[in-house]
Amino acid sequence: MPADIVWKNHIALVTGASRGIGQAIAVRLAREGIQMIITARDAEALQQTVTRIEKDGGTAVAIPCDLAVPAQAQSLAQAAVACFGGLDILVNNAGTGLNKPVEESSEEDWDRLFAINAKAPFLLCRECLPALKLSKRPTIINIGSVVGIKGYYRQALYTASKHALMGFTKVLAEEAQAFGIRVHAINPGGVNTSLITQMRPDLDPAQLIQPEEIAEIVWFLLTHRGNGILDDIHVRRASGSPWY
Ligand SMILES: NC(=O)c1ccc[n+]([C@@H]2O[C@H](COP(=O)([O-])OP(=O)(O)OC[C@H]3O[C@@H](n4cnc5c(N)ncnc54)[C@H](OP(=O)(O)O)[C@@H]3O)[C@@H](O)[C@H]2O)c1
Repeated sequence: MPADIVWKNHIALVTGASRGIGQAIAVRLAREGIQMIITARDAEALQQTVTRIEKDGGTAVAIPCDLAVPAQAQSLAQAAVACFGGLDILVNNAGTGLNKPVEESSEEDWDRLFAINAKAPFLLCRECLPALKLSKRPTIINIGSVVGIKGYYRQALYTASKHALMGFTKVLAEEAQAFGIRVHAINPGGVNTSLITQMRPDLDPAQLIQPEEIAEIVWFLLTHRGNGILDDIHVRRASGSPWY
């Protein structure tokens, strides 16, 4: 069966879809007929993503939410499942970075990064699992980072939070397998978004990975449902030196 027929009317929740990688993922999936629920804090920017999707003939509903607040993450999951009456795809993309040496980093920095980058994906996965178990093609994709595997200078807190997300994803994948839920991590190097401008102003924007390239990998993961599974994908800048 062609991919567009298989995926039409599936339902996806994508976090951090007001800009950057999340927006590119939302636009890409909506193009395939997937009904989108998108979230971020900035309601106006989120609405712009909805408008863009609708212009392309897609369907999207915006639910603004601050994922740093656990209660909001939990009610987002409930609202998302209620929105179109189920859920097939959860993309935990929202994230925040920090470029600061350990000595200058505060407890508040640690708590904020862990709340958004690690705790919110945990809460959303946990709250969405009952709905995903009812789906024919349930998939969770967590957007990690190269710093989920390596450690980068001045990025200890960001690195720690993405390592936490990676550890969580590995075990969730094993637990979710019994229900046919596929769980993947995508770990990019520098992608051309506002986050990298803030974290790595030294990188040449022309050499960064494009958000649309990550969106294409998400689509590949959704449509590749053979007997082999890609647990995690590392996406390196082609011009990267050193290797990442
Ligand atoms: N860009 C890179 O080089 C790169 C590399 C590796 C991994 N990543 C990861 O990719 C993901 C997306 O990053 P990006 O590069 O697209 O960054 P971005 O352009 O800064 O976008 C981040 C998104 O997350 C949302 N977000 C941030 N804090 C939030 C909060 N408290 N509650 C709800 N939503 C929140 C933002 O929306 P609001 O501000 O409106 O809330 C925005 O939509 C992140 O997990 C990041 O760690 C990025």
